[in-house]
Amino acid sequence: MDFSFLPEYYDYFLKGAQITIYLSIVTVVLGVLLGILLALMKMSEIKPFRWAATAYIEFIRGTPLLVQLFIIFYGLPQLSQFLEMPDFVAGALALSINSAAYVAEIFRAGIQAIDKGQMEAARSLGMSKRMAMRHIILPQAFKNILPALGNEFIVVIKESSIVMVIGIHELMYNANVVKGAIYRPFEPLVAAAILYFILTFTLSKLLGVAERRMRTE
Ligand code: ARG
Repeated sequence: MDFSFLPEYYDYFLKGAQITIYLSIVTVVLGVLLGILLALMKMSEIKPFRWAATAYIEFIRGTPLLVQLFIIFYGLPQLSQFLEMPDFVAGALALSINSAAYVAEIFRAGIQAIDKGQMEAARSLGMSKRMAMRHIILPQAFKNILPALGNEFIVVIKESSIVMVIGIHELMYNANVVKGAIYRPFEPLVAAAILYFILTFTLSKLLGVAERRMRTE
């Protein structure tokens, strides 16, 4: 093993990691917003909403992210030139659209895991459904939701490496560039793996702290 390329090339890895972080944050924010909307639709009393949310979630989870990314980046521009977008936008969009389906299930499961006696008790005290949701159900559901959302963030960091195939210069793409420049595949890939691990492990430790703070007993 020979890591003597690092002094010359470390900037590629750091810049790549920066784009990876940036891309993952944008994805998680958009994914959570869209995911909440989908979860609300899925639990709605209006049947077409429920149906649309279920169709979305099942379709997105049942098809590969790579295919979704290619449809957005290569497929859409064929339909209309207005659907052509910069690679970063296409990458963030594909990742968000994908993550939202998983986030929706995290929210729905988190909310539905709260005993229905909680809602009944709140209602019997005269709270409206909305009030009970806001003050009784959601604060409890949050404890189930936060750790799962943290896991989703970790998944997104790792899955974001797929966007190298449309030329976004994130960590995996740049590691590949270094690999080509020094004619050695092993060390740059190990360096990329270590950086991904630093990102995910740090996040997982932070989540552990947040979880422990929220524990009631
Ligand atoms: N690699 C998976 C696929 O190709 C993506 C899974 C994304 N998972 C997630 N929890 N966001 O479909």
